[in-house]
This record gives sequence, structure tokens and C-alpha cells, in this order.
Amino acid sequence: MASVHHSDFLVLGSGLAGLSYALRAAEKGRVIILTKREASESNTIYAQGGIAGVLSPKDSIQSHVEDTLNAGAGLCRRDVVEGVVAESAAAIQDMIRLGVRFTHREDRPEQLDLTREGGHSQRRIAHAGDITGREIERALLQAARGHPNITLLENMAAIDLIVSFKLGIEGPIECFGCYALEKAGGRVHTFLAGATLLATGGAGKVYLYTTNPDIATGDGIAMAYRAGASVSNLEFMQFHPTCLFHPHAKSFLISEALRGEGGVLRRKDGEAFMARVHPMKDLAPRDIVARAIDAELKRTGDDCVFLDMTHLEASFLRERFPNIHETCLRFGVDMTRQPIPVVPAAHYLCGGVRTSESGATDVRRLFAAGEVACTGLHGANRLASNSLLEAAVFGRRAAEKSISLLDTPVMFPPIPGWDPGSAVMPDEMVVVTQNWEEVRRLMWNYVGIVRSDRRLTRAKRRIELLREEIKQYYWDFLVTADLIELRNIATVAELIIESALMRRESRGLHYSIDCPDHDSRSRPRDTVLRKEVEVRHPPPDIQRLMGERRGE
Ligand code: FAD
Ligand code: SIN
Repeated sequence: MASVHHSDFLVLGSGLAGLSYALRAAEKGRVIILTKREASESNTIYAQGGIAGVLSPKDSIQSHVEDTLNAGAGLCRRDVVEGVVAESAAAIQDMIRLGVRFTHREDRPEQLDLTREGGHSQRRIAHAGDITGREIERALLQAARGHPNITLLENMAAIDLIVSFKLGIEGPIECFGCYALEKAGGRVHTFLAGATLLATGGAGKVYLYTTNPDIATGDGIAMAYRAGASVSNLEFMQFHPTCLFHPHAKSFLISEALRGEGGVLRRKDGEAFMARVHPMKDLAPRDIVARAIDAELKRTGDDCVFLDMTHLEASFLRERFPNIHETCLRFGVDMTRQPIPVVPAAHYLCGGVRTSESGATDVRRLFAAGEVACTGLHGANRLASNSLLEAAVFGRRAAEKSISLLDTPVMFPPIPGWDPGSAVMPDEMVVVTQNWEEVRRLMWNYVGIVRSDRRLTRAKRRIELLREEIKQYYWDFLVTADLIELRNIATVAELIIESALMRRESRGLHYSIDCPDHDSRSRPRDTVLRKEVEVRHPPPDIQRLMGERRGE
């Protein structure tokens, strides 16, 4: 039987943002975490390079702030950047307190080993070898599993948020929780809470080639948009310059830390092309490196470029990058002796659900933190290793704000169970697979690293047709995990296209051959999309119950 579950705090997602929130909120109330696969599966667990913070006496808050602002190409919110950077050392200390084991220097074991990545003027990235995310996820998940106030439900996929206008309630939109699909058995449960956090991560799977795992289907962005929350800056999809190029290596990232330790990008003929592109050469901000590779590939017709580490000591490479070294070896590439073939791939969505500096969205009792959110930290291009930092800081801030809501208890209206309509089991899964493939290929070909009005307009026409097809299929058939994700990637794809068409300039990660320059006439602006919502009148039995509650 599907059932109704109550908690003080409801968390959707068990990556760094969700776990940071849960661990803080659990000090004050009961927390339920829903996660759509096994708990550790997230973008967090695949993070390699590390987490940025001001951790060395040679570094300064000002320097980290300036690097973040430079990468963000005029669109970061300075107050947010300054606040997050100021909290960076404490956030990293907090992780250490929770049991995260970062790598320490061999010569000075009392100090963290700090590495460097693109766009950083200092070594300021704390890491755990080249499996930083795995170590963070391990420690935080262990802490959450051991906490008496936290219930973690795996294989439970949030379908939609429960919001006031869908229950016939007028006025500012308020969130009461969500409906979620229990994968085993296909039952839909109702989860109600005083505060709901979206921590569902990114949307790399909207693109055909991505460094992201399968969970990254933009569910939180799509749910928030349907619930009437504002989403912002979705045109800024960050393409990581170096994903391993191999037909069987599914989305394996070659960390930017390799370039931080001296790696050089070369064309097939050996030319180190970044030297003529940017003064920071291979450590230029990511948008510039990805675009330079894209241009080289288009010009030469080559399939990939190469990351050359062969001038560095083999023993150093094996020790510093054991996971990358071993994985490359499995695919027949010995990075100590031969350059690694690499291509760009969709990596990180800088835009997302628009939030305040405390992680609040414009829907009451709904918060967002981590990659799903747009907080103003990244602007038009995220600085490497600032996203783990953002997830930790905003996870905690959103928890603090949610705790303050406990003082005013929620008056839950009567909430109907999930309405499956006239649904029957789909008989042709091939339709779903075909739609998935089509959306992702369309986005890669028409809404990729370099864009044009013509390609974007074509993409818009095509996605509108696909949306209609998917909508029909979705409402005609029983809800399944695949259908939830398909519907969400189509929504997010459409929102990305819409946002890209709205931006009449090139800035940061959005580059259009039709508007190649910054728009210097006006102050840089965010693109913002918000759905017009209609108050939906509930069925008569629910209306009667609501009337009784109001004493009518
Ligand atoms: P995630 O860690 O992605 O967690 C999202 C969670 O939500 C998952 O548990 C997922 O299953 C769940 N979920 C999604 N949809 C639903 C739903 N409908 N219902 C229920 N649960 C749902 N950043 C850095 O700062 N430094 C790095 O070195 C770095 N390296 C990276 C390397 C790779 C290969 C990748 C892919 C990313 C990297 N990033 C890095 C980015 C960073 O890892 C992410 O931005 C960050 O971990 C996001 O954390 P999160 O908690 O917001 O989301
Ligand atoms: C990497 O290790 O190159 C990824 C770092 C990031 O995405 O911040």
C-alpha cells in the first residue's frame, strides 16, 4: 500500500548538498531523505579534482573571490561569492570533523596537500587523491546513516512537488512535500514536511556526451519549474574540456588537476595550442579551453586532442592520480608514456532553481542547494572545484533557514493521493528510448559549445513537438522511473533552449556566432523563466474537507 509519511524536513537527493542539509537539520528535527537510486549514486561520488577554499597562508579570500568573479564573466553576485569564500575554510573543516580524509603533504603531514585547477591563481584545492567525491560521499553517508533523526529511503524517485495552487489554494505558492515513486512495486507515496529541499543535482544527461552519471536528469529543475518556482541562467551548461575519448569509456573524466600539475593539451601533430589562445595557457578558465578544443577539432577534422603528461615523473603520476592512471590503463592508455586522448563533454549546469543567499526559492517552504540551484556564485561560468564548496555551504545555510520555520508549524490542507489518471502499462518501451536519444542528440548538435540562432530555433521547434509527444505518452501510461526522467530531461532541454534564445550576447559558457560579443549596453543580467500557474480546483470531496477544516 502506498502511504503518507510526515517529517519536519524532506530532502530530495543524497549527494553532498542533501547530506549537508540533512546532518544539520537533524540536530533539530526529523529528516527524511529520498534518493532515486542507491544512496551513494550522485555527481558527488565522481568528483575528482577537489574542493576549493582559502586554506593556505599564501592565499587570501580576496584572491579566491577575484578568480571566481573572473571566471563568472560579470554575472556572479559579488555578495554571494564573498560570503561563500569566507565560509570555505570552515566548510572544509566541518567535512574533516565528519570524517572526510583529505590528502596531506608528505613533507609536512600536518598540512593539507593543495592542488590547482583552471582559472585559479593559487594552489587552493583540497583533495583526497583523485577520488575526492568518493571520500566525501563515504564519510557523509556514514554519518547520515548513523543519525537517529535521519531516515534514508533509496530507490524512491520524487515525481512532483505538492504545492498550494494545485490544491486550489490562492495566494503565494507554498510547498507541502512531494509525491515519489517507490521503484520496487511501482507505488506512489506522499511525503509531507514543513520544509522541502531540492538537492537533486545537475542535468548532464540532457546532452548526448557528458561526464555525469545516469541520475543527472535535471529532475529538481523540472519539478521546481512545474511548481511555479523561478529558474535562472540555464543557458550556462559547462563543458569540461577533458573527458577520456574511447568508444567504451562511458563518460570518464580526466581531471583538470592533471593540467594543474603540469599537463599540456596538444593537437595530434604535437602543437600545444593553448599557448596561443590565453595567457594562462592550459589553465585558462574552462569555457575558453573547451571552446579552443572544439575549434581545433572542427578545423582539423580530428576526433580528439591529447593531454600530455609524459614529461612528468611516472612514479608521481601513479601516486597522485591512481584512479585515473588505472582507468586509462584499462582502456589501453598508459599516461606515463603516451598522451591521453580527450574531448569536451557536458559537465556542470551553472544555472538552476533561483535561490536567495539562504537557499530559499520563491516558493514558500521550498529550498534548493547544490547543482540544482542558481545561487549567484558561478555567474556565467563556474570556477573549478567551487561546486562542492557551494553544495556544502548552501546545504548548511538552507538547513539553518528551514530550522527557523519550525517556529511556525504548517497547517497541511487535505492532500489527495497521486492520481494515475487512466494509466495502463506502456507496451512499447522503444518510444521512451527513442525520445531520450532524440532529445540528447538534438541538444548536443544544436545547443552545444558553439551556438547560432538558426540551430537554436530548429532545436526549439523540434523540442516542442517532442514535448507534446512525451506529454501524451506520460499521461496515457503509468508513471515509471524512465518516464519521470524522460519528461524531466525534455523540460530542462526546452528551458535551456529558451534561455539561450533570450541571451542576445556571448558571455561565459554561452557562445553564439550571431552575437559574438558581450552586450556592453546594459548591465549583465540573469535570464529568468517562471511558469504561469493556475489555481487548480480540487475534486469535490477534497473541497468539502477543506471547507470543514476552515469551519465552513
Ligand atoms: P549530486 O551529488 O548529483 O546528488 C544528487 C542526488 O539527487 C543523487 O542522490 C540523485 O540520485 C538524487 N536525485 C536526483 N533526482 C532525484 C529524484 N527525482 N528523486 C530522488 N532523488 C533524486 N565539483 C567540484 O567542486 N570539484 C570536483 O572535483 C568535481 N569533479 C567532478 C567530476 C565529475 C565526473 C562530475 C560529474 C562532477 C564533478 N564536480 C566537481 C561537480 C560536483 O561533483 C557536483 O556539482 C556536486 O557534487 C553536486 O552535488 P549535489 O549534492 O548538488 O548533487
Ligand atoms: C575536475 O576534476 O576536473 C573537475 C573539477 C570540477 O568540475 O570542479
